[in-house]
Amino acid sequence: MNKKQVLPYVPKKNSKKSQVRQMFDSISPRYDFINRIISGGLDIKWRKNLVKVLKPKKPKKILDVATGTGDLAIALGETLASEIIGIDISEQMLEIGKKKVERNQLQKNIKMEIGDGEKINYPNNYFDAVTVSFGVRNFENLDKGLLEIYRVLKPGSELVILETSIPQSFPLNYLYHLYTLYFLPLIGSFFSKDKSAYKYLSSSAKSFPFGKAFNKILKKNGFVVIDNIPQSFGVASIYHSQKPLLDV
Ligand SMILES: C[S@@+](CC[C@H](N)C(=O)[O-])C[C@H]1O[C@@H](n2cnc3c(N)ncnc32)[C@H](O)[C@@H]1O
Repeated sequence: MNKKQVLPYVPKKNSKKSQVRQMFDSISPRYDFINRIISGGLDIKWRKNLVKVLKPKKPKKILDVATGTGDLAIALGETLASEIIGIDISEQMLEIGKKKVERNQLQKNIKMEIGDGEKINYPNNYFDAVTVSFGVRNFENLDKGLLEIYRVLKPGSELVILETSIPQSFPLNYLYHLYTLYFLPLIGSFFSKDKSAYKYLSSSAKSFPFGKAFNKILKKNGFVVIDNIPQSFGVASIYHSQKPLLDV
């Protein structure tokens, strides 16, 4: 991708990864609350829909990349009762996640660790499934992250990604534009001290590839695209893909 990188803070001050880590550390105490507000609670439903996509294959060992405060890991743990490893670069997000896992008494199923999705600390062909919700658009290098996920997936296993997308039909596309331009930064600045964080979240959502463009990126990195399931009129999308059985 030759597009200009969207960064949380001052450009070139330090790498996107360290800016993203700093930003999520800073917003972590309010992350879940603001997430519910900006999505109108729909993010919970979207994560449940992602879990449904994985259910038929009954994966035992799942890696949840960019697990953050653990909402997806917990939804996976509650429904699939598998062995789940959640990794994230933000220690503060993970601290909140670990407490939630304990509150839900899922510590036997879910392990949360500091880890980079672009340099995964697990062997080749190790996981039965990999999930990422609202994480890939924060990667410093998307291709690097997808290739790492490919490496740790067993052949024939699935990658399911939930990410923001942009509604295409009128008037939703127009309303969405107003929503990201005004509502999202306003809510962010009202509930969080870190104003630039919420500007970054809306500008990165607007510039991130979605639909066919994102499927193309998955294919370029070796995945077989199974389905692309828009959520709530295309405000978010679930991308269901697979590492081919024969890894050539
Ligand atoms: C928007 S939050 C999503 C958290 C959670 N998955 C959810 O659904 O609420 C994005 C997360 O991605 C993490 N992140 C960004 N780049 C990462 C990377 N290279 N490896 C691991 N985590 C990363 C951030 O620290 C942050 O916790």
